[in-house]
Amino acid sequence: MSNTDTDTAPRKILVLGATSGIAEATCRIWAAEGARLFLVARNAERLAAVAADLRTRGASYVDTAVADLDDTDRHPALLAHAVNSLTGMDIAYLAHGILGDQAKAEQDFNAAAQIIYTDFMAPVSLLTWLANFCVQRHAGTLAVISSVAGDRGRRSNYLYGSAKAGLSEFLSGLRNRVDREGVTVLTIKPGPVKTAMTFGVKGSYRFADADAVAASIARAIDKQRDVLYVPFRWQPIMFVLRHLPERVFKKLSL
Ligand SMILES: NC(=O)c1ccc[n+]([C@@H]2O[C@H](COP(=O)([O-])OP(=O)(O)OC[C@H]3O[C@@H](n4cnc5c(N)ncnc54)[C@H](OP(=O)(O)O)[C@@H]3O)[C@@H](O)[C@H]2O)c1
Repeated sequence: MSNTDTDTAPRKILVLGATSGIAEATCRIWAAEGARLFLVARNAERLAAVAADLRTRGASYVDTAVADLDDTDRHPALLAHAVNSLTGMDIAYLAHGILGDQAKAEQDFNAAAQIIYTDFMAPVSLLTWLANFCVQRHAGTLAVISSVAGDRGRRSNYLYGSAKAGLSEFLSGLRNRVDREGVTVLTIKPGPVKTAMTFGVKGSYRFADADAVAASIARAIDKQRDVLYVPFRWQPIMFVLRHLPERVFKKLSL
């Protein structure tokens, strides 16, 4: 674990997309540790419910802001307000995202652009500010949820996958830049997880449980890991998928 103050002070954690199923489960772990939390989400009612729940679970401080994170012009003011409210920041956790409608995005560039904007452009905007904040202090962890979908483009979700691929590569470069400044960048690559995003998807009963995924994420942050495949089995699966030759891969219906 790392703190900007002392090893016993509650950690100061900024959560972007705090009503996400995975983020909420992770926040429950941090609340039980007595963390200070600043939560950002766009649904005011659900955000208030999540905040109230985390207070009862032991968070030492919870503040919130309602924001559509596609509004990148608002990011600098929003983030400055968040770190001011937390009186610093040890961890920024980026969890917001959309799966989008792949079939629609194949026909309609506006639908494709929406996926790219929410899943790539908005995180790049947030991370630009957050990385510079951390570099100035030579401390901090930027934990960002990308996806195994970004490891290789597949016909079933290549718009979402390409946005996440861009995000994973951005994080790789950012890590390479800020590691020497004492800043940790964790790229989180979940396989399918049971959350609102995958509700009703065929076979979703077999998907990973959000609480188990959250526990792995919290551990990876504590250990200052670089990349996390979660559940772990997705690491060898994606290794194989990434290395399949195109002449084989293009015949598969994935
Ligand atoms: N579930 C999976 O199988 C899976 C697998 C790999 C990676 N991931 C990634 O994990 C992260 C969390 O997803 P999840 O599974 O927890 O799904 P989720 O419960 O559907 O959470 C997604 C969250 O993103 C928020 N969001 C979307 N667009 C936003 C915007 N413009 N401004 C503010 N908030 C916005 C949503 O808010 P609203 O509720 O207001 O829409 C929602 O709270 C995402 O980045 C996702 O891509 C998920």
